[in-house]
Amino acid sequence: MDVDSVRADFPTIRKGKGIYLDSACQSLRPDSVIRAITEYYEDYPACGGRSVHSMATRVSIAIDETRETLARFFHTKDPDCYAFTRNCTGALNTAAYGVPLKRGDVVVTTDTEHNSNHVPWLRLQETVGIRRRMTKSRADGTFDLESFHRCMDHDVKVVSVQHAGNVTGCTVPVKAVAEIAHDYGAIVIVDGAQAAPHMPIDLEDLGADVYCMSVHKMLGPSGMGVMYGRREVLERMRPLELGGGTVGLATYDSVNLAPIPDRFEAGLQDYAGIIGTKAALEYLSKIGMDEVERWDLMLMERICSSLEDVRGLHVVGPEEPRLRGGVFSFNIDGLGAHDIGMMLDSMAGVMIRSGMHCAHPFYVSRGIDGSARASTYIYNTPEEIDVFTDAVRHIAETFGNRSRQRDRGRTAELELPAVGRGSLGRPVAAGYGDDMSGHRQDMIIGRQQLHSAQCQLVRLRVLEPIQDVRHRLGEPVHHPVLGIVVDGAQNPGDGGEQRDPAHAHDDAGEGELDHADTQTP
Ligand code: ALA
Repeated sequence: MDVDSVRADFPTIRKGKGIYLDSACQSLRPDSVIRAITEYYEDYPACGGRSVHSMATRVSIAIDETRETLARFFHTKDPDCYAFTRNCTGALNTAAYGVPLKRGDVVVTTDTEHNSNHVPWLRLQETVGIRRRMTKSRADGTFDLESFHRCMDHDVKVVSVQHAGNVTGCTVPVKAVAEIAHDYGAIVIVDGAQAAPHMPIDLEDLGADVYCMSVHKMLGPSGMGVMYGRREVLERMRPLELGGGTVGLATYDSVNLAPIPDRFEAGLQDYAGIIGTKAALEYLSKIGMDEVERWDLMLMERICSSLEDVRGLHVVGPEEPRLRGGVFSFNIDGLGAHDIGMMLDSMAGVMIRSGMHCAHPFYVSRGIDGSARASTYIYNTPEEIDVFTDAVRHIAETFGNRSRQRDRGRTAELELPAVGRGSLGRPVAAGYGDDMSGHRQDMIIGRQQLHSAQCQLVRLRVLEPIQDVRHRLGEPVHHPVLGIVVDGAQNPGDGGEQRDPAHAHDDAGEGELDHADTQTP
């Protein structure tokens, strides 16, 4: 793959908008997708499948073409087996509420599901009385087929599993799972949100009965998803929404449903999104999904090997790059995930996601507050990965593990070389100080602590404006120094609670920017 020519196709990259490592959430979009959307709005912004004038007919044809492109992309024969949804969540909800289930029926999921393949089943447990079983993943988050076997019996009517995890990146062997599930007469629903964008998928071969995905994670427009289903499964599914477009004929007291896939597409659709979907699939096809997968692996190998010796850094999920897909989730001792995310952005212009990634049960069950997560795609380069890993190393070495430094004594002097905004948008600063014994130590302080600390400032240096140190691709990140932009930062006593300076150091030692943040008036 010629990454330079790929990058030339993405306007956000051309404009130097930063290093984007959040593609597991939503990918960047190439010109061709943006053009297709714009062309729809400029040239034929009509509805599809209804009016018969020329503009509307062009839309109807474009919709058919997108379904045909989907069928080719996923190696299936019948384009009508693809229904458009708002996102993967919409597709999973359509499937969960659509399959005929009654009290006592068992649904099996993994214990690492995204909320979108968990909460709908939880709701059906409450409302319909289905029973749930979960496969137990291994300690590193990988799927355990033996555990899955133990969940199966003839009460199981649905097996609904992620194809790849959005936290660990681990894949579920869907083909093996489907063979076992089918032996028990269960249907198989797959959350393909994190797999479809990153690997070649042959849906005929995979054996899934329903496969759901988000197009905005695979270069397509925001708010576009797809639900694929085998014809006989879709024909037995009850649509979640009904109304215009979903019916053959309705009278005052009767209705017959339209054929699939129309019965799942109630009301006017996101035609620009459908048309942009075709452009996205064509772009990925041009590169080749084998190549996409290979590129992600190369980047993940680089991340894992660069960070393997960073003290205090813990990988969430397996450490073997081959098992991680395109997602690298991690924590650093002494730092919150959002602190890491904010610092990476402020210091190095690297955008990642932080938090629980809508996979709450995974984190809660393991007693973890969340994690930082970097996720890659075809437009990321090894050089960008180096900026990310250098910055992570710097953050871990400078700001991590501070709880061990809490007993060193009072901070008597401060320089404040880094500043950004916390997750609540309030100013936070990170800096070094010399403690009373002359040892250099690091600290992170929120606004409140900053004001406290200022009581004892001897020197406060404004070093460099944020913009000047961002996006220096290829340059090692050596203690990037950023300008002080905190309100009143050079005006000790200006607002903020005045606290005993002796304890400012303790606050700094906590290293929780968000906590400091939330205390700010
Ligand atoms: N589910 C998406 C993610 O993992 C939004 O980021």
